[in-house]
Amino acid sequence: MNLEKEDIVRLLSSTGDEEQALLDKALSCKLEHLDNKVHLRGLIEYSSRCSKDCLYCGLRRSNSHATRYAMTDEDVVNCALQAMELHYGSVAIQCGERSDKAFTDKIAHLCREIKRVSDGKLGITLSCGEQTEEVYRQWKEAGAHRYLLRIESSSRDLYYKIHPHDDCHSFERRISCIETLLRLGYQTGTGVMIGLPFQTLDHLADDLLFFKRMGVAMVGMGPFIPHPDTPLWEYHNQIPSPEDRLRLTLKMIAVLRLMMPKINMVSATANQTINPRGREQAILAGANVIMPNLSPSDYRKEYLIYPDKPCVSDTAQQCASCLDLKLKLTGHEVLYDEWGDSLAFTSAQ
Ligand code: 5AD
Ligand code: SF4
Ligand code: FES
Repeated sequence: MNLEKEDIVRLLSSTGDEEQALLDKALSCKLEHLDNKVHLRGLIEYSSRCSKDCLYCGLRRSNSHATRYAMTDEDVVNCALQAMELHYGSVAIQCGERSDKAFTDKIAHLCREIKRVSDGKLGITLSCGEQTEEVYRQWKEAGAHRYLLRIESSSRDLYYKIHPHDDCHSFERRISCIETLLRLGYQTGTGVMIGLPFQTLDHLADDLLFFKRMGVAMVGMGPFIPHPDTPLWEYHNQIPSPEDRLRLTLKMIAVLRLMMPKINMVSATANQTINPRGREQAILAGANVIMPNLSPSDYRKEYLIYPDKPCVSDTAQQCASCLDLKLKLTGHEVLYDEWGDSLAFTSAQ
């Protein structure tokens, strides 16, 4: 569906029956173009070391309260074996951003290891930040086929309100990285945070139009959760309430589903931080991907992008059965043992 900016803003401001009608329409649209299957990506939170200083994130380099770790190769291989055992067809490696060669070679090595121990069966999504074209190519050759790099906000102005103004944080480089990933043939995803200080419905409508213009195959967007050890905490009283941030997220997902019926859309873990049912609500609003955590519990509590992260004391096995049951209750089914590629990507090939 082609929506103009004014239509999008109107839908994002809907309440009551109109809001419910939007969510219902998005669910029917998803069921019609895709199906009731939810794709899983087992999440491996590889490392909390980060060279950047995003003003919203608990892992920013200036946060001296954050504990820094990197998993061993063996830890990562064990996560991959766990994914196989739980019949997750795919894993996602997420970490703080670094660009040194030791790091970029390590990610390539881990991709090869995951492919080796799974006999090529596990799909690999990377979410390891901005890199050179050469590195993105190296990682693709090592076996990664999907990449997530959120733009965080498609408004240049807002981008620089939530990132420092220095060479390390460039809006233009971010866009050019997304373009490089698309050109290299990655199934590429981007996304934004919702309910940021200074963010308006106009910004959010522009974000949705940006996703469509870029022609990405995947989108991950979730509510902003203020972290007390970051600069943006200062504004935590000036943003919408947690419930309103979640509602706005659900409406963003619903509108985007109508605009891009075939893309893969993640229900962000942050939804669950706001409301225990938030993850399922996003699935009912049009999302079709969930990223259950595979990280060993010692690491889970150290990978604190935002506070009150769910499932920190649960095992991968517990999360797997919990998810299966909760999704069945919403009329959805988990797609096991498959990569779950985006139809927007495969049908464009
Ligand atoms: N609240 C919600 N999401 C956040 N992210 C980082 N910090 C926060 C926060 N405080 C998201 C960003 C980033 C991803 C790794 O996590 O969008 O891309
Ligand atoms: Fe680092 Fe990513 Fe957090 Fe920014 S959002 S500080 S790049 S982990
Ligand atoms: Fe982790 Fe429910 S998904 S306990």
